[in-house]
Amino acid sequence: MADNWTPNSWRSKPFVQIPDFPDKEALVVAEKRLASFPPLVFAGEARALTKSLGKVANGDAFLLQGGDCAESFAEHGADNIRDFFRVFLQMSVVLTFAAAKPVVKVGRIAGQFAKPRSSDFEKKGDISLPSYRGDIINGTEFDEANRIPDPERQIMAYRQSAATLNLLRAFAQGGYANLEHVHEWMLDFVDKSPQSDRYKQIGQRLTETLRFMKAIGFSADDHPRLRETEFYTSHEALLLGYEEALTRVDSTSGDYYGTSGHMLWIGDRTRQPDHAHVEYCRGVKNPLGLKCGPTTSTEGLLELIDILNPSNEAGRLTLIARFGSEKVGEHLPNLIRAVEREGKKVVWSCDPMHGNTITSDSGYKTRPFERVLKEVQQFFAIHRAEGTYPGGVHFEMTGKDVTECTGGARAVSDEDLGERYHTHCDPRLNATQSLELAFLVSELLQEDQGNVKQKVAV
Ligand code: PEP
Ligand code: CO
Repeated sequence: MADNWTPNSWRSKPFVQIPDFPDKEALVVAEKRLASFPPLVFAGEARALTKSLGKVANGDAFLLQGGDCAESFAEHGADNIRDFFRVFLQMSVVLTFAAAKPVVKVGRIAGQFAKPRSSDFEKKGDISLPSYRGDIINGTEFDEANRIPDPERQIMAYRQSAATLNLLRAFAQGGYANLEHVHEWMLDFVDKSPQSDRYKQIGQRLTETLRFMKAIGFSADDHPRLRETEFYTSHEALLLGYEEALTRVDSTSGDYYGTSGHMLWIGDRTRQPDHAHVEYCRGVKNPLGLKCGPTTSTEGLLELIDILNPSNEAGRLTLIARFGSEKVGEHLPNLIRAVEREGKKVVWSCDPMHGNTITSDSGYKTRPFERVLKEVQQFFAIHRAEGTYPGGVHFEMTGKDVTECTGGARAVSDEDLGERYHTHCDPRLNATQSLELAFLVSELLQEDQGNVKQKVAV
């Protein structure tokens, strides 16, 4: 167990991005109730995820992580969850096929509620109110009452997470994830895509492979692996009172686990090594993510790696690079070299969303698809040049046909943004943009496969 650590040792450290709750008594009551509720995930599952991520760290698997920027209470419904899962599964099949490796599937879902904000206040005209910090803390509506942090929201977030996770588990194990269905959905997408020819090839090859497998006796009817899948949950461990209340000792190992989700990550704004968020995360055994951005120095990163993964266990730590398409080339190589020099075992994943947010001419916060793609391409190219493994991608996405990011094959223009701009926080890739990106990443993975083959041939 981590030295001098308890589930509440973070409370003696400085912190940012956790608001003050005016009703302290209600906060204590809510946290006590949460502490008495059943865990949302089981420690054994988190351990299995660490093991799978260990394979990613060793170059033997690929990580797909994605979902909402912020889940919302208002949009909680079966359709949203199903549509997200459906697109996510298709992306994972495309990537599995291209990488010829297992894809570790981790959703930003069933707990992704709390948001860090660049500014404590939001201004509209002459009125300035505390910023919206995610449905687990306050409301989006721009009025004073809604913006007061309300502890009862933590109970609602817990219950929503439980219901979401329940449906996801049913989908993953109950037949919805059947590879043959996923393949058909994907073919439907390919047929309708303006980039159809480019994507058709991979679709056809997958069709042939499945036919061949069926011919030799591998069908979903008698092989559970073809009709079930493993799916994990993740969120930013930001609201530490909530995380502490759901921290439990695993009876099998005696270790502490955060049971609010399988994987927890530390955001770009809360990774100060002597602060509360790092303190909390270092003591739980879940696999951790750490966002790395333009302000991450090589020494700072190595210090955090030592704190968060002192035993250098592969799979414990995923470094999520989020530099922006214009900065990734300047920063990422140095960080990779430092990690390599020190022999640290990490997963490198690319979040091409958070460094590529702009305000469009029409005033919407958006992300141009070309910039998102460019950051992913550079991420792969940098790893290729350094001889290291680009282990995964991390997207903000939805299964719905929203208009929040511009571009893509069925181009969303600046003028279109207002039509279906539904996000509670950052702009997400819509269903077609997400799948398109998966196809484009699959091309990069296939190029890397080509490189491996060439190396073997030499
Ligand atoms: C996020 O992932 O939603 C987020 C806020 O990212 P970052 O901490 O990298 O800005
Ligand atoms: Co975001």
